[in-house]
Amino acid sequence: MLIAANWKMNLNKNEIKLFSKFLKKNNFSNHVKTCIFPQSIYIDLLAKLLNNTPVYVGGQNCHHDISGPFTGEISAFSLKEMGCEYVILGHSERRQLFNESNSYIKKCSESAINNSIIPIICVGESYDDRKNKNALNFVKEQILNSIPSTEKNLCIAYEPIWSIGTGEIPDKDEIFEMHEHIKEVAYSFLKRNIKVLYGGSVNIHNIKEVLSVGNVDGVLVGGASLKVKDFLAIYEAVVKHINS
Ligand code: PGA
Repeated sequence: MLIAANWKMNLNKNEIKLFSKFLKKNNFSNHVKTCIFPQSIYIDLLAKLLNNTPVYVGGQNCHHDISGPFTGEISAFSLKEMGCEYVILGHSERRQLFNESNSYIKKCSESAINNSIIPIICVGESYDDRKNKNALNFVKEQILNSIPSTEKNLCIAYEPIWSIGTGEIPDKDEIFEMHEHIKEVAYSFLKRNIKVLYGGSVNIHNIKEVLSVGNVDGVLVGGASLKVKDFLAIYEAVVKHINS
């Protein structure tokens, strides 16, 4: 099980210090992996603050080249150098606001893998695609065009766009169906099983329900990961689920 905390463009230096202070008091389980994705400028700070804990740090994005004239971009090589274990790629906010295409995401994922970083590649349909029963097809296209064919480790996060930051989540059958579909599509060309995280409005109230779906290998949490108490409550729910 992996809990990925996507902080997006939130939390400043003092808030991160307070969060880490509280987090360090937690008893961590060996069976749950945790990775926090702060703004890139704070990756180094967070990595140092969490130095003696099993909590990983990760990048919210990376470029596909390892160096060059790309003002404002960050390479997978630099993320690795700063201690990152994972990178989120193809988040719907990047796809929509920064016009990232499937082929672009694929190149970035390849660069992450080449630099020993595990990409968490995000896919997910819009509300219209869900309503028009096109969700499975839409996500299949995203997977086939944005996931590199590799033997190395990668994860997919299923994040329906209409669920991100809205408080609405798909029902259990819909999550099950989509996770099964993603695993099958990925298996068809990777020839192995991959982990699929669920993301979109995961919080302390619905975490149990999400975990009870059965084929959810972890969660990608946005808003609810910004408050350390909520984040740890989600963590506890995952530990309980594993031990049950
Ligand atoms: P949310 O964000 O949990 O706030 O819906 C999830 C995400 O965008 O990864």
